[in-house]
Amino acid sequence: MKFDHEYFDAGLYRMGTRCEKWDEARKENGDVLPLWVADMDFPSPPAVQEAILRRAGHPTFGYTGVEDDDYQAVIDFWQRRHDLEIEAEWLTMMPCVVTGIKCAILALTQPGDGVIIQSPVYGPFRMSVAATGRTLMDAPMTRDANGRYDMDLAAVEARLQQGAKLMILCSPHNPASRAWTKEELTALIDLLAKYNVPLVSDEIHADFVYAPGKFVPTLAISRKNVLSFCAASKTFNLAGLQQATCICPDETIRGAFRAQMAKSGVTCGNIFALEGTRAAYNEGDAWLDGLMDYLDGSRKYLAALVEEYLPKAILTPMEATYLGWLDLRAYGFNDEQLRERTVAAGVQFTGGKFFGDNGDGFLRINIGCPRHYIAEGIIRLKKALEG
Ligand SMILES: Cc1ncc(COP(=O)(O)O)c(C=O)c1O
Repeated sequence: MKFDHEYFDAGLYRMGTRCEKWDEARKENGDVLPLWVADMDFPSPPAVQEAILRRAGHPTFGYTGVEDDDYQAVIDFWQRRHDLEIEAEWLTMMPCVVTGIKCAILALTQPGDGVIIQSPVYGPFRMSVAATGRTLMDAPMTRDANGRYDMDLAAVEARLQQGAKLMILCSPHNPASRAWTKEELTALIDLLAKYNVPLVSDEIHADFVYAPGKFVPTLAISRKNVLSFCAASKTFNLAGLQQATCICPDETIRGAFRAQMAKSGVTCGNIFALEGTRAAYNEGDAWLDGLMDYLDGSRKYLAALVEEYLPKAILTPMEATYLGWLDLRAYGFNDEQLRERTVAAGVQFTGGKFFGDNGDGFLRINIGCPRHYIAEGIIRLKKALEG
């Protein structure tokens, strides 16, 4: 099978599959084009479906173990795609990254302790800090006139001086589309080391960095005091399977994390999740290369559409992810008004305030879909802003 532009342009019909992106959005907002949650409108690699169907052919579904080949699939994939050497012992399977974030917070901090994030950032970082009874310590990123974001290390250091006990990094960054460089990550890790503060690095978007950029794994810089979270779920569109992995070479941190997982009753071993994830990691390279080629064209297409139809908007340069971050403040609407207007115009994005108060007046657009949806979404957005 060829994973070319025609394949990704074709997309697939998802309604009626209990799909959160399409079915849940429509329950709430009617007939909208859903360009919100980070889930793609493409079929997963055929090997995933084949593996799941093969296992489903056996008629019983009892307790299932994680085996050596499940760990090996992660190790081989990261070696091939990111040039990172991983040892099986470092890996802990978990149902999803957000569960891992919550367990890491519980394992590595005490109630009330400060946890650093860099807003605007994926909302569940903030929500996990609140849910675990810790104190949010934001070190907002800086942003230039072109909408490009940078880490504010002075703000991070101020939080460390205030006694922060943990930091959660989004690498690559959602929604700022940054692929952090080796220099940036090294500077951050050196700073955290000075205060002996551990880092949770959420690397779920690792496979979505556009050339000439390159994803730099945090673990390639430091093996101490770092928990790296990854998954095949975003890369191959398997979020409904619920399977992710924590990579942690640091024995002390890893032990604390595993103890918390056990205490919280978090287990892993969903038959279909393991089958599908192994197949994706082992047999999904050609599909992923085709996808990245398609998305690379789509991010350029989005930039051209924004320039033509939304001259007052600023699209943050997309170095990574399939999520575009649009500054629409020049149009003068707040988060709620943008939501009402876009839904009325028949399109749904993720509102900027999901990523923090400094996201007010912004929208995040998901371009992990056939390209004609992007064009339709931008036309509807123009109507929403001008109507
Ligand atoms: C940065 C980031 N982390 C985690 C997740 C969710 O991962 P999971 O479904 O494994 O909890 C997402 C989903 O959009 C994300 O963007």
